[in-house]
Amino acid sequence: MEKLKIDISQALSFIDNNKLESLQSQLDQHHNAIGSKKGAGSEFLGWHHLPSSISAEFIADIQQTANKIKNKAKYFVVIGIGGSYLGSRAVIEALKSPFSDFQETDNPKIIYAGQNLSEDYLFDLLKLLDENDYAITVISKSGTTTEPAVAFRLLKQHLENKYGETEAATRIIAITDPEKGALRTLANQKGYKTYVVPDDVGGRYSVLTAVGLLPIAVAGFDIAALVNGSKFMETECSASDNTNNPAALYAIYRNALLNKGFDIEMLINYSPTLTYFTEWWKQLYGESEGKENKGIFPAGASFTTDLHSMGQYIQEGRRVIFETLISVKSSKNSVLIPDDNQDLDGLNYLKNKNIEYINQMAQLGTSIAHVDGGVPNIKLEIETIDEENIGQLIYFFELACAYSGYLLGVNPFNQPGVEAYKANMFALLAKPGFEKETEAIRKRL
Ligand code: PA5
Repeated sequence: MEKLKIDISQALSFIDNNKLESLQSQLDQHHNAIGSKKGAGSEFLGWHHLPSSISAEFIADIQQTANKIKNKAKYFVVIGIGGSYLGSRAVIEALKSPFSDFQETDNPKIIYAGQNLSEDYLFDLLKLLDENDYAITVISKSGTTTEPAVAFRLLKQHLENKYGETEAATRIIAITDPEKGALRTLANQKGYKTYVVPDDVGGRYSVLTAVGLLPIAVAGFDIAALVNGSKFMETECSASDNTNNPAALYAIYRNALLNKGFDIEMLINYSPTLTYFTEWWKQLYGESEGKENKGIFPAGASFTTDLHSMGQYIQEGRRVIFETLISVKSSKNSVLIPDDNQDLDGLNYLKNKNIEYINQMAQLGTSIAHVDGGVPNIKLEIETIDEENIGQLIYFFELACAYSGYLLGVNPFNQPGVEAYKANMFALLAKPGFEKETEAIRKRL
């Protein structure tokens, strides 16, 4: 397997060299703190050696469950929000054909619910499920999150009406806390197949647990190869020295850039199937770092598409943005520009060239223009978009996120700020137990 390559040459001139040394020495300490579980939030370090601890039996068990679902469902609905769904969606969207939803395939089509509260979305979903065979997984570590709880209540009832209670129970897989929570109680009562979200793995770090692996396996992708890629990266990142450890190098450079006023990081891809990977990355970094009025703002763009919308701002707007580019060395297929006798579009100078060659030139030209315009660029290069390379990227970003949070001086594993909207929503909905808050918020309206 080719190791992910990281190129910081286009960020160097924007950075203070002295800062790099001090960041490396801080990172050495944080690397040790992660290893010895001495840092903030160390009760959530289960992801750190997760890839190397996943057994062949566990993979086989997930695969077996996935095969059972494939035999009876055309659609597999993944119910979850945030870390309980973004990881699987990121991997599935990266690996599948953008057109597979319009084609007959051997594997169930994966659809998502519980990641919003849109009535029309749920109405249309129920209509689709009226007419098609399906199964669901409901994923919630806490077992109490409102969005997935609402979707699950609807779909559970729909399944029971459609298939009867006994058959419905075989079409529901619950992934939740090993002991606590409403979902665990219900799963035990109804005899659902269950998997566990380990206590020491937070939602946004859970893609390599059953949370991510089950939907990815149902979609037909090779979860053993995904785990293998992340395991490879776990080994590559075992020393803290940034000349060997790419996650350390990335964490140091993004923080050195922040120190120079680059407050916004855009994760850039030139392959639209990576759009949801960016969404996963945004959650990982946003929820891990954005606290105590600190943190790099994580944003993203898919080029060349977004060069025609965001390109102007990036080139000439406020100089607060740096880019981290996921560059994919080889596409999986070949499409050549055809010759044309008339050449009215003037494209014959590209005849017989691969589309990917043009994409690579767009990439290079854009990076040079943006760097010249004052936008530093960190380049991450992977061989191709497959399970092993995506597995590498997942572990790379997880570890770099932990380092980065510690370099910023925050606990990267909690998310206290997410509660604020929930409290207001519960008060407005007059949830029992929120009477005081309901009274207080009504006075403000
Ligand atoms: O990363 C996180 O911890 C969050 O995004 C959670 O995954 C999200 O809030 C969903 O929580 P739960 O799995 O408890 O329903």
